[in-house]
Amino acid sequence: MCTSQPHANVPEIIGKKRDKMDLSAEEIGYFVQGVTKQTIQESQIGAMLMAIRLQGMTKEETMNLTKEMKNSGNVLQWPKDFSGLVVDKHSTGGVGDKVSLILAPALAACGCKVPMISGRGLGHTGGTLDKLESIPGFNITQSPEQMKDILKTVGCCIVGQTADLVPADKKLYAIRDVTSTVDSLPLIAASIISKKGAESLNALILDVKYGEGALYKEIHGARELAQYLVDVGNHLGIQTAAALSRMDNPIGRCVGNSLEVIESIECLKGKGPKDLEELVSCLGSHLLHMCRKAESLKAGEKAIKDVLKDGSALAKFQAMLVAQGVTTDKAKDLCQGKEVLTRAKKQEELKAQAGGVVQAIHSLPVAEVLHELGAGRNQPDEPINWSVGIELLKTVGDKINKGDPWIRIHFENPPLSEKQMSLLQKSLVIGEKAQEGPLVTEIIQTQSQGGKGHSCPP
Ligand code: URA
Repeated sequence: MCTSQPHANVPEIIGKKRDKMDLSAEEIGYFVQGVTKQTIQESQIGAMLMAIRLQGMTKEETMNLTKEMKNSGNVLQWPKDFSGLVVDKHSTGGVGDKVSLILAPALAACGCKVPMISGRGLGHTGGTLDKLESIPGFNITQSPEQMKDILKTVGCCIVGQTADLVPADKKLYAIRDVTSTVDSLPLIAASIISKKGAESLNALILDVKYGEGALYKEIHGARELAQYLVDVGNHLGIQTAAALSRMDNPIGRCVGNSLEVIESIECLKGKGPKDLEELVSCLGSHLLHMCRKAESLKAGEKAIKDVLKDGSALAKFQAMLVAQGVTTDKAKDLCQGKEVLTRAKKQEELKAQAGGVVQAIHSLPVAEVLHELGAGRNQPDEPINWSVGIELLKTVGDKINKGDPWIRIHFENPPLSEKQMSLLQKSLVIGEKAQEGPLVTEIIQTQSQGGKGHSCPP
């Protein structure tokens, strides 16, 4: 391994990484501070990112990069009585992934503090902020002081990233996006964990998805990312674990922003689909165990299921909506199941072309069709139609007869085309038997947490 001397010259630092040498903590600090203060040219940032993408970084370099990025802006501070209780989860993105809307209030109902900083959807996966913004009045912009107040009174908030939280990531991410350097393990890890570090978390669970609807199609890629994230997170002082979860079929029965809010409320009443409740309780049990609110994973699972059944998680969700700008009446009506959200003007059902058992519903074509119908965006800040979505009338494992309606598509403008209907029909796989098995197939922890293992009770 090559040793590094401190440098204050950007071309020399870029040259070292280009030539596969390790950068010192000082060199990484100099680079990140230059990005934040805008004293480094964009061409130099692009060159450095490409050098990292091609030559990689050691774990130590990645940890130094993460620390510097975290400290590039505001680091949230919490009152003493939150000590040990501040938790969050991060997902690498899925189809129908509404887990945050349920998990944050469920954890708050269990006594945790959840300052969840989420993102918007980009590409085929949905974003938590878009789902919440389909609720009239919901405000994703909250200052650190407002977040602190909401955590004191409610216990959870779900907000967008502010300009002064990890500004280095904002700049680096924008340049990665246009320089083909997004898919770099050290850059992904530094980007995700720096933002979680700035939340001053005690515990973090990462939901790393694999399968056709995920960033990683195969488990080994997801496992490598998960282990990397867990190591970097723990090094930063956050107790971090990762769940590897299958992302083949849509999660739950609804995909699309406002439909997913409605399904989340059902789950918050203890009446959600089995796969969604399983994912929420698995991720929640790990966080409750890590922050010592549960003696075991089994106890953690029970605690999450209990707050979903007894209405206390729903009460937290309702209180969070009000704290973030929704009127008391609207929040109450929504949580009572009244029609508060705008419905798409048109709905169309497709019928099964054969009978048998639903083996799979491919999530990627479903997401891509919804994207074309206006549920997602191609450019940041592009407007979307919150009411566009699908409801699965049949799901994996269900018996189905030829002619049974199996999907209801909600759309407006553009209309649903023949080609899109055909793509959706092809996403339904009918056979003799469905594949059974848990959504979370592996938990990744550091050695001190007990190492790798299957840790969600069936
Ligand atoms: N999410 C992030 O915040 N950063 C990445 O680099 C990838 C996913």
